[in-house]
Formats: sequence, C-alpha cells, structure tokens
Amino acid sequence: MTERLIIFDTTLRDGEQSPGASMTKDEKIRIARQLERLRVDVIEAGFAAASPGDFDAIRAIAETIKTSTVCSLARVSEKDIRAAGEAIKPAAKGRIHTFIATSPIHMEKKLRMTPDQVVEAAIKGVKMALEYTDDVEFSAEDAVRSDIDFLVRVFGEVIKAGAKTINVPDTVGYSVPFAWGDRFKQLIERTPGADKVVWSTHCHNDLGMAVANSLSAVLNGARQVECTINGLGERAGNASLEEIVMAVKVRQDIFKCDTNIDTSQIVPASRLVSQITGYPVQPNKAVVGANAFAHESGIHQDGVLKHRETYEIMRAEDVGWSANKITLGKLSGRNAFKQRLQDLGIELDSEQELNEAFARFKDLADRKSEIFDEDLQALVSGDSIEEGDEHYKFLSLSQKSETGERPQSRVAFTVEGEEVVAQAQGNGPVDATVNAIESKVHSGSELLLFSVNAITTGTESQGEVTMRLSKGGRIVNGLGSDPDIVVASAKAYLNALNKLQSKVEKLNPQLV
Ligand code: KIV
Ligand code: ZN
Repeated sequence: MTERLIIFDTTLRDGEQSPGASMTKDEKIRIARQLERLRVDVIEAGFAAASPGDFDAIRAIAETIKTSTVCSLARVSEKDIRAAGEAIKPAAKGRIHTFIATSPIHMEKKLRMTPDQVVEAAIKGVKMALEYTDDVEFSAEDAVRSDIDFLVRVFGEVIKAGAKTINVPDTVGYSVPFAWGDRFKQLIERTPGADKVVWSTHCHNDLGMAVANSLSAVLNGARQVECTINGLGERAGNASLEEIVMAVKVRQDIFKCDTNIDTSQIVPASRLVSQITGYPVQPNKAVVGANAFAHESGIHQDGVLKHRETYEIMRAEDVGWSANKITLGKLSGRNAFKQRLQDLGIELDSEQELNEAFARFKDLADRKSEIFDEDLQALVSGDSIEEGDEHYKFLSLSQKSETGERPQSRVAFTVEGEEVVAQAQGNGPVDATVNAIESKVHSGSELLLFSVNAITTGTESQGEVTMRLSKGGRIVNGLGSDPDIVVASAKAYLNALNKLQSKVEKLNPQLV
C-alpha cells in the first residue's frame, strides 16, 4: 500500500529568505499559480507579520489559489498569529504555521525564556491559531539541537491543544540521515497523540544533506516534507522539491509513498523561480539542471540510443523538459499565440495584457526566426510584466564598440513618461549602458550581481539578464530579455530601478 506524502512548498517564505531573492507581490502570485499547477499540497506564502508587503502578498495569494492550502508563518505571539489569521482569511483552504524555538541555546540566548515558559507559549499560540482555522501546524525551531525529552513534552502538549501537523526542523542543517531518521522514529514512538497528527520534516542544506535527511525522515514516518523549488532558502537553502518528489517517485519500492505532484510542471516551476529570483540553476543540478539528461560519453550515448533505460532512471519529458520545440513564428496569429500561452500554463490577467504580450511577440518574431517556449516564457516575465505604472521605461539603445576604443552607449528611456536620452562610455558595452542610465538617474544603488543566460540554444538566442541592486538595505532583482544582450541589460537595470522605486513608495509613502 502506498501512502500519501504531503508536499509543503516554502519557496515564497523560506526561499525568499535567500539573500537577494525578495519578490514583489505580482511575482509571488505568479509563482503561487505555478505551484498550484504543480499541485503542491501546501503553499507557505510568507510571514504575515514581517511587513505590510508580506501580509498583502499572502492575502492576494489566498484570494487567488483555489486547490492548494495557503499558509502563513507566525511566531507564537498574539501579534503574529492575528496577522497570519487575517492574511489567510480569503483562502479556500488556509493554514497557520506557528513556531517557537526549543533548543537550550535558542531558549536561553535568543528568547530568554525558561522551558516551562516555552511550553506555555506554544500551547497558547496553537489555541489562538485555532480561532482562525482548524489547520494548525506547530514547529519546534532548532529541533535538531533540542533535547528529545523536551521535544516529546512540547509536541505532546501542542497535539493536546489541537495542532494537526508537527514539524521538526533542522534549522541549522546540522543533522545526518541516520540521526535524523532516528529522531523521527523516537519522536513518533514516544510523543502522546503522535498517531493523530501528520509528522513533517524541514531540513536546511548547510552540510549538503537536506534532501537525504528529509528522505530519511520519510522512511521513519514523516508524511509531510517542507521543501523549495531549486532548493532555494536561508543560507545554503532547503531540501529541493524536485529531488524529493522524483526520489520518492522513482524509488517507490523503498519509500512506499506517493505525492500528488504533476511532475511535468517541475521544470517550468524551476525556470520561473530562477528567472524571478535571479538565482541560476547549476547545470549539473539533479532533475532541473541543463545537463541532468545530457549524455556526453560515447558509450552512454550509444546505450541510450539502443535502450533509454541503460543510462536513464527517469524521462526528461516526465519532469517537464521540452526539447526546445519551435512553437511559433512570424506568421502565427493572436489565437495561436494565446493557445500556446495557455498550454504553457501562462495566464494573463486581461485582454490588454494579452494584446501587449502579442505585440512583443511580433516584435521578437521580426528579429528572431524561431520562437521557442522559453522565449514565450521570457516574453511574459521580468521587464515585460510590470506592476502598473512603471517609473522608468526602456525605449531604445545604440551602442558602439571597437577594439582599442572605449565602448559607448546611448540609451533612450522615459522617466514618469518624459523621454530622456543619456550617453556614456564604459569598460564594456554593458558598463557604458549602465553608466549612461546612471548619469540621469543617480540612483545611489549598488550593483550586487550581473548575470547573462542564453534562454535557448544557438547564437540567435535571447539573452536573459539579471541585475541585482541594493540600496538602503533593500535588495531587488531586475530582469530583462532580448536577442541583444546589451538591450537586455538596459531593460534589466531599469526593471531593478523600478522595483527599488516601488519599494520606496510602498514602505515610505510620505517620502514621495
Ligand atoms: O528552519 C526553520 O526552523 C524554519 C521554521 C520557521 C520552520 O524555517
Ligand atoms: Zn527553515
């Protein structure tokens, strides 16, 4: 008999805690929609009490998502739980995930609370969360370094108080598979009421063992895994969803569990998260890396051609790899374009957005003979979809480079609708372009990351650029794509400036 393994995705909460991975509300909604297509059971949409922006994003996701449960994180404090409860109110299915630390080091040094006070606060927090939803999850932060007898006591009490899911986090990525599995075995054997709840594992990857530890927990009774797309997350990240899901699917003989995940949505989800956060996926990453299904050695190629299973344990198509299919061309009409977007699971909010995307598609098709699915995805991301009124908007660019000369760039863009033309030199064409923009904008921001990725194969591929900017403690990722990588860079830079601008407005409306 196979048992159901619940997939709890925390890309939008723990994933967003990766340095520089902060996302706008619209970006979070797009990821949440993709997570729903992926059929994750629970989407942890954020930490409602962290900021008004987080609260808004959780609420908007709760309004949008229909089939997955939408969850907000909350410490056990009244303020956090009330914020989480209000944020998830519109959800068809809503959960509050409340937590408090239980390790001696956290209780003494961080919380300055005694173990008895921690137990009392945990019970109170769970009871308060139950005022909003009967789906309450409790986590013992730093469970990995907590005394097992104390964990048994805390978990027994919160189960009595009404928690339905008990999450055991390896907050600092300290465990190893044998020890983590053993911890689950003992907790499930010893905690009163253990059979009434779902046991959940949440592992960080500091020693590179988040996936292995999570799977060891599953072998020892965990029936929920907390994970993120591409393994994004605080520090070295969390367990990666795609690896957990495929391990359980490919080795059902060992795990005897199954998930509800539509695995064909894994690669699109990975791409979307990478695009939005600016975190590239390493080529040799399991399941979603560009080389995950590439066979280099002649012996392997020969074997795969004769019989695929000689060297492949899963099929690329099953996890959503499409073979760079040419989908549309210059002569394709609006209906074919709309249909292909639908097939790719891309929803545009209005006819006007569709018309604008179609205009961008026609423009691209004039410059690029073959349009792939990846091109369409880029067309509706980053610089393309903006949140209402853009402060800066790219118009055009001309650029001159010659061996032995300093490159020059001339950029035309609008600032609140007014056209501006800027010109500058730089060490390279991208440097010249950024210098030109900055000569007018004087943003005072610091560039933390500049990365260029070819979206598809071939030299006519679009370049996808990420520019990560920081200012006054805020970090944003700007995205831009174009067959001309200097143009893509200008778009990405302006996109990042727009995000910095909108964050300033949202945080300090009185300043603008
Ligand atoms: O790593 C951790 O302990 C967490 C908890 C809040 C679940 O993210
Ligand atoms: Zn975590």
